[in-house]
Amino acid sequence: MNDRQIRFFDTTLRDGEQAPGYSMTLEEKTRMAVQLEALGVDVLEAGFAIASPGDFASVRQIARTVKTTTVASLARALPKDIDAAADAVREAVHPRIHTFLATSDLHLKVKLRMTRAAALERVRKMVAYARNRCAEVEFSAEDASRTDLDFLCRVVETAIAAGASVVNIPDTVGYSASEEFHDFIRAIMTRVPNLDRAILSVHCHDDLGLAVANTLAAIRAGARQVECTIGGIGERAGNAALEEVVMGLRTRRDYYKELSFNIRTTEIARTAQLLSRITGVKIAPNKAIVGANAFAHESGIHQHGVMADAKTYEIMTPESVGVKQTELVLGKHSGQHAFESRLRTLGYELAPEQAADLFSDFKALADRKKTILDRDLVALVESKMTARIRPEREWKLDTFVVNSGNHMSATAQVTLVRNGKTRQEAALGSGPIYAAFRAVEKIIRHKFALEDYRIEAVTERRDALGEVFVKISDKRGVYRGRGVSTDIIKGSILALLNAVNRMLEVGS
Ligand code: KIV
Ligand code: ZN
Repeated sequence: MNDRQIRFFDTTLRDGEQAPGYSMTLEEKTRMAVQLEALGVDVLEAGFAIASPGDFASVRQIARTVKTTTVASLARALPKDIDAAADAVREAVHPRIHTFLATSDLHLKVKLRMTRAAALERVRKMVAYARNRCAEVEFSAEDASRTDLDFLCRVVETAIAAGASVVNIPDTVGYSASEEFHDFIRAIMTRVPNLDRAILSVHCHDDLGLAVANTLAAIRAGARQVECTIGGIGERAGNAALEEVVMGLRTRRDYYKELSFNIRTTEIARTAQLLSRITGVKIAPNKAIVGANAFAHESGIHQHGVMADAKTYEIMTPESVGVKQTELVLGKHSGQHAFESRLRTLGYELAPEQAADLFSDFKALADRKKTILDRDLVALVESKMTARIRPEREWKLDTFVVNSGNHMSATAQVTLVRNGKTRQEAALGSGPIYAAFRAVEKIIRHKFALEDYRIEAVTERRDALGEVFVKISDKRGVYRGRGVSTDIIKGSILALLNAVNRMLEVGS
């Protein structure tokens, strides 16, 4: 197939989620999936259904939720994996099974202990098996870029003959050089006789920092599906960053010969920020397209040029990727209408009771902070968007008092409320936040370890909101929480409670 349409296959929720620090809950994955659909990805790999009951449930939930995007589940070339994938995507409007088998001699020998002939037979059988369970099947030849080219061409031909409508060529370990990968894809395009019946896809890893370059080179060679993740997250050094590939195609239309795609580039910033907020992993300031400095001009010469004509130093506009240049300011005189309308502009559609709840938080904040910027609003909303906790099980902060100084241990007294009942505890600590966390631990009577704690100012001014991120763990898992306040101790307790409520909900 050699049309002009590039299909974007997003694997943020599968390959991306496999990276340390990026695991997400079912609710978080579903929220990301909804945003990825708004971004316009053609295919969304929702997970690896056989990997765990949690993965299966997430894939199924996403399959039920998204409507226009194809939902894929990964599966090894084994009947039990394919069955799990098929069951998980069954309710999707457009389901796909993505099955894979390693094809390089190295993987065949040491990992699979299989001959090339046996691998070919497995591909034939398992693609056909998957085709029986789902109308759309993608086959990936893992470690394709280190596979003997003649053998790989036979694998691709076999997969297509058995019913795969997409065949993916991964550079699994990010080993290829760009020109080499271009030629490799071109060779497959010309040598596989039945390739007119399938779409050729690529999936590049970033071990040598070439994932995006290799993906674009493959497009030039004829690949028409590209597998990417938001921000390039993924195994080890990650995958090709979706936003970089798409903005490469858009900005250099002249070079890429007017290829088309369905990505709404104005949703890029929102999608990257949502991922960062959900996972608590910050976007590097110098990250292409989505980093805070991507459109900032610091040097005098650059500023002068941009003021004269932005094209001097900007090859794409911030607006084209959804970066808002102006932030609307709200304050204590702003009414609920202005507040809700601003939230809608920022992409939040809230239920009336949620909006009313947030509006009272907004008013309390506006009493302490003169001006409220979009970033403050987003932090406020996001700190409330957590997993669904049953109201009767939710611990809420009532009061706290802390005492600390440079010649004393810090003490904290915390009072929490749950289901109308208050409980109070006091604790000592090496600092006020630690003392407050110990008091919370005593109240909830559940031990946890603090895995991560971070605090950041949401905006630059002295009265800035502090946004606190905590990660805690118990025997069953890891839970994240977020809290915002102009008071960092209060923000810290709120973040901890946010994580604690998730932990207790899982355990109940
Ligand atoms: O990197 C890889 O080879 C993969 C496949 C499973 C597609 O992620
Ligand atoms: Zn991969």
